[in-house]
Amino acid sequence: MTDLQYDQEVRGYFAEKAEAYDDVDLQPYWVLSDRLLATALREDVLTRLPEDFEFLDAGGGTGRWTSFFAQEAHRSSGVLFDLTREMIKVAEAKAAHRGFADRIEFVQGDLAEVGEILAGRTFDLAFNFHNVLGFVADPEKTIKDVADLLKPGGLLVSFLPSVWHAAFFNIGIGHLDEAEKALTRRGRFTDTMPDMHLYDVQRIEEMHAAASLDLEVLTGFPNLIYPGYQETQLHGSTKQLVDVLAGDNFDRLFEMENRVRKAPGIAGRGNNLFVVARRTV
Ligand SMILES: C[S@@+](CC[C@H](N)C(=O)[O-])C[C@H]1O[C@@H](n2cnc3c(N)ncnc32)[C@H](O)[C@@H]1O
Repeated sequence: MTDLQYDQEVRGYFAEKAEAYDDVDLQPYWVLSDRLLATALREDVLTRLPEDFEFLDAGGGTGRWTSFFAQEAHRSSGVLFDLTREMIKVAEAKAAHRGFADRIEFVQGDLAEVGEILAGRTFDLAFNFHNVLGFVADPEKTIKDVADLLKPGGLLVSFLPSVWHAAFFNIGIGHLDEAEKALTRRGRFTDTMPDMHLYDVQRIEEMHAAASLDLEVLTGFPNLIYPGYQETQLHGSTKQLVDVLAGDNFDRLFEMENRVRKAPGIAGRGNNLFVVARRTV
């Protein structure tokens, strides 16, 4: 498959999902994962930024995390960059509805060309959450291109799909071929999604070093509870997860997860890997 065909497949996949993408907020597992991500961002990212920081939401989708930063930091401003027009439309409507549209610019483009498209712009923070670096053609190049858009001392924050979780998940649903493929850092969770790049600690260390980025935080989460097949779909939840996350259990599990988030060596156990890196030069 050529890069162009792959791009079209990815764009088609997300165009179809755009309208219902935010229904992820109805799935308790992802609510837990998002609360952990929001907590990590408050502790490990917002504390490292000036109040009026400028950000790049790379592969920002429906603007769920643009919204987070815009609403947490009222003097921030940013660019949401995404391949898929349908995703951007949802993000634009959200920004207008929530009253921060004047601080956000929306750019449709392929991250393969982000350096050219945003040439001359600089950012205090760039972030890519939930599989974005899974879907770009050449993640090592994209990391470098995005790092070049950072101001000296700027932060790159990533939330990346894990090699080991993809293998574990596929074994759980009986897809041993997919599990074996995941160990080569390429794979997927369902038959209908495009193949993704997958990450382990070694790849993360190497790709950040090559882009002159210093790792300040490398962990992963959730670590103690993993998604089921339903959580790979836009609707529905695995019954066992709904039951265990019901009522007071939700806060108890959140506290447990939040406690182990910083345990040394926990990264590889995470469903997704969380990285905060700083541009050194
Ligand atoms: C799983 S969604 C995540 C959206 C958002 N980051 C979030 O966490 O809610 C992945 C997004 O990456 C975008 N994407 C995939 N490949 C891309 C590329 N090559 N360039 C720019 N965006 C891309 C898709 O259009 C989609 O909106």
